[in-house]
Amino acid sequence: MTLFESTVRPVLFRLGGGDAESAHEATLNRLAGLGGLSKALLRARYSTTTPVELFGVKFPNPIGLAAGMDKNGVALPAWPALGFGFVEVGTVTAHAQPGNDKPRLFRLRDSEAIINRMGFNNAGASSLAARLKDLGPLDVPLGISLGKSKITPLKDAVEDYLTSYQLLHPYADYIAVNVSSPNTPGLRTLQDKDAIAGLLGALVGKTPVLVKIAPDLAETAIAEVLEVCLHYGAAGVIATNTTLARDGLAAADQSRAAEAGGLSGRPLTEKARKIVHFVHTETGGRLPIIGVGGVMTADDAARLFDAGASLVQLYSGFIYKGPALVRAAARSFAAARP
Ligand code: FNR
Repeated sequence: MTLFESTVRPVLFRLGGGDAESAHEATLNRLAGLGGLSKALLRARYSTTTPVELFGVKFPNPIGLAAGMDKNGVALPAWPALGFGFVEVGTVTAHAQPGNDKPRLFRLRDSEAIINRMGFNNAGASSLAARLKDLGPLDVPLGISLGKSKITPLKDAVEDYLTSYQLLHPYADYIAVNVSSPNTPGLRTLQDKDAIAGLLGALVGKTPVLVKIAPDLAETAIAEVLEVCLHYGAAGVIATNTTLARDGLAAADQSRAAEAGGLSGRPLTEKARKIVHFVHTETGGRLPIIGVGGVMTADDAARLFDAGASLVQLYSGFIYKGPALVRAAARSFAAARP
């Protein structure tokens, strides 16, 4: 067990009264409040420089923070100090919205997993734009993840994404089109060929646009998404979002298996890797891949790179293992490419 797991994590997990979402909010607030000295000390300990250039963007290292951790960008300056080579904020929607009823976030400790049904709780695209304008440029590239507002009917989805895109693309090094969250009714149908074509036709422009896909899609459906991505000039694919499956849970977590929502962490590792491999072989490497899902160790990250990912993101692994995982993953990448 690392120092983080034995001493820091138990404290963080109990912050804010101890339920998972309150602890998350309290940790974000602490990160948002870090002073310059704390950030400098963290940076000295955790930052790794192993530069990568992809879709015209220069990344100081290829390990990023996945969408959903800092939806409104409240702790943005802290993430590079914790070693991340890029950050994806959001998912944000054109309309501010509260998300689903609480509780909606569950830790499955023995499985190193999380179930969430947050439902895109966020302050809205214009609020994020104002925040990013105030902050000025970050130390690392910024991805901005866009989703559909719950109140917007599916038939008007393109307009809804476009509203967010127009407000936010000036601040983004890339835009992620999230059509794969399981927690907004109907959202995943936007992965259908015609729907994704409509979205990419409207959004692809100067700012690189990547499509984030679900791990539960059949290979034929993924192949269709890839065809559309290539046709419309998408900059890449982010694979994968959380899964609706419940395989791979420890006995102690079986009682949680019935919670609705998306599962992430260790049970997703192999599934995400297989999908990254499929995307890589299906496109002959023509479409850059950000690999995400169940990276809990440096070896998991190395294997996702080997499967075809050019960049890798962490969410659950960061919750369970802390910033040492970011550093170890970035170093394993460097070691494999002397
Ligand atoms: C997420 N994820 C996510 N993804 C996304 O595109 N937009 C979002 O708003 C969110 N929100 C979110 C909230 C919570 C609590 C979790 C745990 C996850 C999915 C995330 O970015 C990632 O794709 C998956 O969690 C798989 O990676 P890990 O967690 O296994 O490393």
